[in-house]
Parts: sequence; C-alpha cells; structure tokens
Amino acid sequence: MQIIRRLEVLREALDQFTHAGEGVALVPTMGALHAGHMALVDAARRRAPRVVVSIFVNPKQFGPTEDLARYPRREAADAQMLSEAGVDILWAPEVEEMYPAGFATNVSVAGVSDVLDGAHRPGHFDGVATVVGKLFGQVGPAVALFGEKDFQQLAVIRRMTADLNLAVEIVGVPTQREDDGLALSSRNIYLDETERARAVALPRALGEAKRGIERGDDPATALSAAVAMLTRAGFDTDYVTLVDAETLTAPTGGRPARLLAAARIGTTRLIDNIAVTFD
Ligand code: PAF
Repeated sequence: MQIIRRLEVLREALDQFTHAGEGVALVPTMGALHAGHMALVDAARRRAPRVVVSIFVNPKQFGPTEDLARYPRREAADAQMLSEAGVDILWAPEVEEMYPAGFATNVSVAGVSDVLDGAHRPGHFDGVATVVGKLFGQVGPAVALFGEKDFQQLAVIRRMTADLNLAVEIVGVPTQREDDGLALSSRNIYLDETERARAVALPRALGEAKRGIERGDDPATALSAAVAMLTRAGFDTDYVTLVDAETLTAPTGGRPARLLAAARIGTTRLIDNIAVTFD
C-alpha cells in the first residue's frame, strides 16, 4: 500500500490505474479506524479493482468548541489495518495540502444540512460537503462508500453529488455495532466505563420507538418515550426524530423513513439511527 501525502504524487499513482483501465472505490475517513470503517473497505473491494482510503481530520467540519484537538489520531495503526485489508493507496494529506493559502470555496447543501445535526452543529455539513467534494475531485472515484451511522451526512453527500452531477456512485453501508447494539464510532473511546454501560440505551431507545411506531403507536408518543428512556440512562438528548430518509423532512407514508437520535453522555455526543416502516 502506498501512503501518499502530496496531490501531485496521488495524481501520478491514479494515472497508472486509469491507464490500466482500473476504476477506483474511495472510502473517506478521519482515521482512528474500527470495524465500521473496515466494513466500508470490504464493500469497496467488492465494487472496484482499486481502493483508495483517505485519512484527513478535516478542521472545517469541527465547531470552535468541538473536539478537533483531541480527536483520536493513530495513523500508524490505521495504515497497518488498511495494508492488511489490501487497500492500494492511503491518501493522507496535511491540512496545508488540502486547504492551501488562498483557499476560498465553501460547498453548502441547503435543506438537508440545516436540520438536526446541522442545527446543533452550525457549519458542520458545509465542512463535510466541502472536503468530500475536494476528495472526489482529487481521487475521481467511480464509487464512494459512507457509513449509514452518519445518516444525515450520507443524505447531504447524496444531494450534493446529484446536484453537481458528479460521476460517482454513492453507497451507504449499514452501521456496524458492538454485541450489545452500540454503534461503532471513533468517539466511543471517550466513554468511561459507566458511560459505556449506559450508552446502550441509545440503540435500545431507537429500537423501542421503531417497534412502537411499526405497531401503530402515535409517533410523537413513541419519540417522547425514547427521550425519557435516554434521560433515565443519564443522556442529555439533542433530538430523537422520525424523518423522510431522503429529504430529512416530515415523513410521508409509503416512502422510506428513518428514526434519528443525537444525545450527550458526559462530554461525549453520540448519534444513531434506524430504518422504520411508516405508513
Ligand atoms: O465521516 C467522516 O469520517 C467524515 O465526516 C468524512 C466523510 C471523512 C469527511 O471528513
């Protein structure tokens, strides 16, 4: 596996794939890789002859009070995992390579970026859309893979890709979970033992709400019960909501719907989501 930090070197390596007629699957990450990322890599290997994984802790998607400085960074261990998984290129640019002096462009996807996490983390999805747009421009993948755990991020990227007519197929990969149901996340390492034990309330609250809604309970009642369950477990809830899976607006019967939640336990903010059948 080549580890590349300079755009000109990346272009030369990608040119060789192009000349050999080999398409590329891209897995964008911020590192601190876990089994959830490796499921993206597995899916990527099944979809294209060449796999590029990017590791870039993108400052533009962190708010001023967020965890940019303490975000876990462990590139050597990540590179080892990726190499063993048969990845062709690890694209790991420095901030100056991604955002050179004079960089002035912001990609903003209205609507899907403005609600839920977008309302709680102003500017976050502009940062995500901007860097993902750049990664698509840098790598030119035929397909790019993202985890469904960041469901709103996936909706933003799908919207941007369609709106800008980008020639890349966006694939969402189901959330990977611990045995007790907690969604895998690089931020789970912030949880102490007590918080980790309580964190399982998040997938459980979503599961309860899903079952309630699917057996015909009033969604508002099911959502309130989920918030109460989270509060009892020690969470401070930002939202638990039922939305249309594509637009993230109010759900309408007959279209895919999704339950999404964000809640803080101690200093750690966790998100999760689950598909719901809603008529
Ligand atoms: O999901 C992530 O790790 C990041 O938001 C992404 C897509 C790599 C953009 O920085």
